[in-house]
Amino acid sequence: MHTSVLLNESLEYLNLKEDSIIVDCTLGYGGHSSNILKKIPKGFLYAFDQDKEAITEAQKKLEEVGLNFEIINTNFKNIKEEVLKRTKKVDGILFDLGVSSPQLDNAERGFSFHKDAPLDMRMNQDDKLSAYDVVNTYSYEQLIDIFYKYGEEKHSGSIARAIIKYRENKQIETTLELAEIIKNSVPEKYRRQGHPARKVFQAIRIEVNNELEVFKVALEAALSLIQTGGRVCVITFHSLEDRICKQMFNEVSSVPKELQKLPIIPEEYKPKFKVIANVSPSKTEILKNPRARSARLRVIERG
Ligand SMILES: C[S@@+](CC[C@H](N)C(=O)[O-])C[C@H]1O[C@@H](n2cnc3c(N)ncnc32)[C@H](O)[C@@H]1O
Repeated sequence: MHTSVLLNESLEYLNLKEDSIIVDCTLGYGGHSSNILKKIPKGFLYAFDQDKEAITEAQKKLEEVGLNFEIINTNFKNIKEEVLKRTKKVDGILFDLGVSSPQLDNAERGFSFHKDAPLDMRMNQDDKLSAYDVVNTYSYEQLIDIFYKYGEEKHSGSIARAIIKYRENKQIETTLELAEIIKNSVPEKYRRQGHPARKVFQAIRIEVNNELEVFKVALEAALSLIQTGGRVCVITFHSLEDRICKQMFNEVSSVPKELQKLPIIPEEYKPKFKVIANVSPSKTEILKNPRARSARLRVIERG
């Protein structure tokens, strides 16, 4: 079961009307989408996901609400061409990034450092690169680079060294094997501050799915698709995604620095967007759903 994060807030900020055309870039198990569908009986929902398992479940859930939707089984980096094939009018776009609870809970998908499984972590089961390839073929320098960049892991060096040393004898096959190597390569004190494999697993997942690059491309495309008065809502779960969103929203909602001192801002440089909200989940939501604790919702509107 997946509990949707910041559900009421995102429904409210999407500013849904009965005939709204909405794009949900991260259908998952349909929590946000099914609730959106309830509020747009005369509108239409386009929902993306690259995970076939999620789509099968979500399809049934959405059909219980209405038939005014289409699920598009592709990476959301293709949002622009896929949406423009279908409509020119988009009133709201939602991103709820990361993995869903069923993806984490299903040991076979290899996302969890608590459950033993082959190292996989692909959100799209047809993709070529898996966690196994990253862990067993990347050089010492490449491993350090992704652990620092995508995991902000301060013990990246010793963890990468331990992986390379282990590989001299055998390949690293499973999630628990990797988690154990990580645990044994960090100082005792560090092991007590949450699971030592958390950041490295996050880093490998981001690398396998190319998450940050893909998100940048898709967010830019989303801003170009949204029509006047429409909103883009983004729920992120870690600082790297949030930084991309914050920077892009700041850029499109402000006058370029070098022109800010001009007495009159030329029309073409006036910002086309305004930032509407930047909210975190309530204490009650975090108590009910600890996965929500690192979430943040940012909302922007085309003026
Ligand atoms: C956090 S879950 C979404 C949960 C959903 N909002 C709900 O309430 O049930 C994120 C979903 O987005 C999908 N996803 C992540 N990155 C994607 C991408 N680049 N393209 C398409 N789907 C993606 C994942 O497969 C996952 O199913």
